Amino acid sequence: MRKIALVFMLLLMIPNALAYQIPEKGVIYQIMVDRFYDGNKSNNEPFYDSTHTNYYLYWGGDLEGIIEKLDYLQSLGVSMIWLSPINDNINRMAGASAPYHGYWTRDYKRIEEHFGDWETFERLVKEAKKRDICIIVDFVPNHSNPATDGEYASLYDNGTFITHYYKDKENATLNPYTSSLENIYRHNGNIENWYGWEMKSKNLFGLADFNHLNPWVDSYLKESLDLFIQAGACGFRIDAVKHMDLGWLTSFYAHAYQKEPLFIFGEYYKLSYATDDDMFHFYQYANVSPLLSIPIRGNIFTTLGFGGSFEDLAKELEKYYSQFIYPNKAVNFLDSHDLPRFLSESRSKEGYHMALGLIMTLPGIPVIYYGDESYLVSKDGKGDPYNRPMMIFDNTTEAARIIRTLAELREENNALAYGDFRTLHMSYTTWAFERSFGGERVLVVLNKREDKALEIPLNWSDGTYRDVLYGVEMSVKNGRATLEAPKNRILVFSYLGKQEKPLIGSVTPYFAQPGDKVLLGGVAFGKGGKVIVKSEEEKKDAEILEWKEDMIVFEMPKIKTKEAWVNVTVENNGERSNAMRIRYLSGEQTPALLVINESYINTTGQLWIKGDIPELAEPIPLYKSSTGYYFQVVSLPKGATFEVQLYRGLPWGELEPLNVTLYGRANTTVILSEEPIEHETMSSGQICGVGVILAISLVVLLFRRS
Ligand code: NOJ
Ligand code: CA
Repeated sequence: MRKIALVFMLLLMIPNALAYQIPEKGVIYQIMVDRFYDGNKSNNEPFYDSTHTNYYLYWGGDLEGIIEKLDYLQSLGVSMIWLSPINDNINRMAGASAPYHGYWTRDYKRIEEHFGDWETFERLVKEAKKRDICIIVDFVPNHSNPATDGEYASLYDNGTFITHYYKDKENATLNPYTSSLENIYRHNGNIENWYGWEMKSKNLFGLADFNHLNPWVDSYLKESLDLFIQAGACGFRIDAVKHMDLGWLTSFYAHAYQKEPLFIFGEYYKLSYATDDDMFHFYQYANVSPLLSIPIRGNIFTTLGFGGSFEDLAKELEKYYSQFIYPNKAVNFLDSHDLPRFLSESRSKEGYHMALGLIMTLPGIPVIYYGDESYLVSKDGKGDPYNRPMMIFDNTTEAARIIRTLAELREENNALAYGDFRTLHMSYTTWAFERSFGGERVLVVLNKREDKALEIPLNWSDGTYRDVLYGVEMSVKNGRATLEAPKNRILVFSYLGKQEKPLIGSVTPYFAQPGDKVLLGGVAFGKGGKVIVKSEEEKKDAEILEWKEDMIVFEMPKIKTKEAWVNVTVENNGERSNAMRIRYLSGEQTPALLVINESYINTTGQLWIKGDIPELAEPIPLYKSSTGYYFQVVSLPKGATFEVQLYRGLPWGELEPLNVTLYGRANTTVILSEEPIEHETMSSGQICGVGVILAISLVVLLFRRS
């Protein structure tokens, strides 16, 4: 009895024991902390404007204010709050602005005193959790703060001064392989050409660029992220992923995923989508991170805020989503702190309601920017910083009703969270698309002109259906739906058919290394069964940590493979689910600069490598330095030896093998060579260690027999 009580007590002591949220099922609410609600007047100074007229100063919002408003947020049906960065920012003005926005960090291990401290953050996490809401933190690992203004990129480690931009430059050295001048920061000037290595290794608008290959920087940023994980954050929005090496980013995400199955998404600032840039490679091959859907926001805004055809929009969205392996992990938004608000540019409130409804029903996770529900507008219709006015609280609006109703539907009907995306009808002014997942379906109909009678092919059971937003009726007979679509409305119909066999809809995170916890979302998982992880070479049952009808947590096993991807399936009562792909990392990761001497290469054009370990199995592009090397930052399993093949080609085309094989071993800098690398032989110390273990085993065996 005492033992049971002890186990029970231990379980109570584990914080947040296996209580995870599946991101796709939810809705994110984005808050600019300074502009939300002032819960503590004593932390407002300095650089405070109580009149809320100077958009470049602090206005008083803080973490205590958010805690006070949690009931309000719960009333909107949101399940995740994305906080603007809350790390300690510079204590001076820069470019006539205070860092009220939080993007100018000086100490990644402390909380900005205008917003609160670690205790307030933990209280926020706890209070939010009581309302089934979890906290996502905006984290800014690409740069610290302005290099030539303010505090000159001063950096602190939990209060201890480390460096500033000029001091750092005194001891900076030239990397012989990349020709970057670097120390803790990189000292290569500002980005002028927005592509290639320059985009990663120069200062973004004067913000001091971190040298992530410096081991101190690498551990400092990882330790800082850990503080938020320990304090209970359920995910991160990573700033400026476009400006960091994918290899370092992979090791950073992998580090976080070792702690918890977090939801981490990135900001890759690109207003339109094109195959000829780095972003294409980002999700075509690397798949490091779900991204904010910045490239499609403009299409949605124009079509519903001004003019333009639904036909074009539908085609554009289908093209966009087809690039993703996990389209349902795209993070969709209408308004943000970086763009003018929808209603500031377009006066069409009806168009706005339709656009809100669309964001809530497209593949991906919707973001509601603070005040979207209360029709908050930018001052004089402008963008940053005027799109960050003080919050107006009103959850009784039509916009709030749309958000709440569709947030509830996301919970109830899995087609919105996990479903595919298929246009059933499109014209210039009307559009109907279906989302389906197993037996569950959602039909979305938009009409932006006069009331219109529509007939749409629809494979639902015969009957009458009522849209969840306005109660408009639709009748279905013999695979055809007929309805009267009202002018300027979005209609959403739901169908909940039964699903007998297990079906996986989501995997979080979608890359994992052995030992990581992975979350599966789906339906018909039953009361128990198996999760099978399969590579080309091996098949293993994973250890199950939690099993529910609609969610499983398992531990990624170690598995033999040279490929990038493994398949995961669920089995119960002899029924097997669909297979879901997971990017497999073969061991504890370390970032590494991979270098190839140009003497190995007698061709021009874009070069790539592919290697014989999972981390290098998808094509990785190489940069060329002015010092005679090709290079790239990659994430490698510590201590691994590997070989790579060289390729040439364009990102969207087939790659041509160059028949060059090179070899390397994981290290901070890996200079690839033509000589194969011997596998590690055992040192005399290791041989001695193995001898001792064998001897002990023998004694134990003999002892048990006697
Ligand atoms: C993108 C953020 O969204 C923006 O607001 C910020 O100023 C820049 N990154 C730089 O951190
Ligand atoms: Ca950078």
